[in-house]
Amino acid sequence: MASKKMIKSLNEQLNKELFSSYLYLSMSAYFEEDNLNGMAAWMRFQSQEEYAHAMKFYDFIHKIGGRVKLAQIDTPKDKWENPLAAFKEAYEHEKFISKSIHEIVDLAMEEKDHAARSFLNWFVDEQVEEEENANLIVEKFKMIGDNKTALYMLDKELGARNS
Ligand code: FEO
Repeated sequence: MASKKMIKSLNEQLNKELFSSYLYLSMSAYFEEDNLNGMAAWMRFQSQEEYAHAMKFYDFIHKIGGRVKLAQIDTPKDKWENPLAAFKEAYEHEKFISKSIHEIVDLAMEEKDHAARSFLNWFVDEQVEEEENANLIVEKFKMIGDNKTALYMLDKELGARNS
């Protein structure tokens, strides 16, 4: 049986994943406004992925006999200085989420909660990919600088995302 502290941490992470979904949807809306439809599609896809992450926590909490408690979701930012700034923030946000997941893993280890530890493994691996993906896009932005044609190409490339 999971501890009260563990259920609370899992619920908090559920909220963070829902906020991630909200943040990326807000970034998607920002890109739509700038007619960067490929980037908007990438962020919308990412937003849906975060919702799926949240639901993994939702289902797991129930599975271990806990109670899901939904809390207020913070209002995300809705403007960035430029497209690079938005992706930079996405990268920073993913680093924050990784840290948060690692803290729950630490708790699971401390409490010898093997079920939670095993469940969280998937997220530990997923976060490596999430950080890598966001950082790769930041690096591409840096490479293209102010080149509009390259920005157009990158927008096209990101719009082709399907996983
Ligand atoms: Fe659910 Fe992007 O971490």
